[in-house]
Amino acid sequence: MILDVDTGIDDAMAIAYAVADPKIELIGVLSSFGNIEADRASHNALNVLDMFNATDVPVFIGNHNPLDHQYQRIDINAQIHGENGIGDVELKASERDISEQNGVDFMVEAADRYGKDLTIVATGPMTNIASAIQKDKDAMKKVGNITIMGGALTVPGNVTPVAEANIEQDPVAANEMFTSDINITMVGLDVTLRTLLTKKETQQWRDTKTEAGEKMADIVDFYIDVYDDIYPELGGCSLHDPLAVGVAIDPSFVQTIDMNIMVTTEHDAYYARTIGDKERLNDPHTNVKVAVNVDKERYLKVFMKRFLDLFQA
Ligand code: BDR
Ligand code: CA
Repeated sequence: MILDVDTGIDDAMAIAYAVADPKIELIGVLSSFGNIEADRASHNALNVLDMFNATDVPVFIGNHNPLDHQYQRIDINAQIHGENGIGDVELKASERDISEQNGVDFMVEAADRYGKDLTIVATGPMTNIASAIQKDKDAMKKVGNITIMGGALTVPGNVTPVAEANIEQDPVAANEMFTSDINITMVGLDVTLRTLLTKKETQQWRDTKTEAGEKMADIVDFYIDVYDDIYPELGGCSLHDPLAVGVAIDPSFVQTIDMNIMVTTEHDAYYARTIGDKERLNDPHTNVKVAVNVDKERYLKVFMKRFLDLFQA
């Protein structure tokens, strides 16, 4: 698995899940702009990996900007993820360096080398994936599956009434990916807004009395407080990005519908909406599985087991 992140509090949880699941071999983490600048996102990823002793997993930087340079919306999501991207919690700075190889090149090479054995999970803007497709579409088409956290089909968006954040940060890239004919699983707000974590669970992490458990609880409690402010009706924070990792390795966590998806890129009220592709409505061949329902109880059980095992490893 390659994780393509914009670390980000829930991206940090996605990294933890990928390290913790024994069925996942994480061969690299690559970052882009998104919740925070790409450089900071990469350092956050390195520090999180090191905290879990995953010091053999390299971190790469991909894109610093969206593909549509005329429309650069790179504001830092400090209100949601903190000034440093991880809830303003200080982690021990890694002694490792970010890999010199460009992250997009790494992705293309891995796609070519591992083919269907490779799963890419994207939990930030789709810019790195679109760049990789532009660079070598044949290699990218060999990939077994791309699972993304992004989009919203049956529920409203979280940036505008129609747009979800990861799509809204680079809709041109997302559209390029969805229309590429690569196998994609879309884990969007349809399911992630229903999959919630509360301080009852983070208290269990604290109770492990481990540094990783306590630090992760500090980071995620920041997110829970933000969610309590913004979405008091939910009663917890959404497990957006770690749900995508869980679904990538165990698709039975969700029910999906087969569709062809496009993203609207016109700068109007429908900007960055994920919607059925009208050009391919009657095409019997579909390339996107859109998650519309989730077994949140089972997912949360597995999620907690993975995290508690990881902290106590
Ligand atoms: C997505 O946006 C980001 O803020 C989160 O990390 C997640 O990937 C949710 O819309
Ligand atoms: Ca993210």
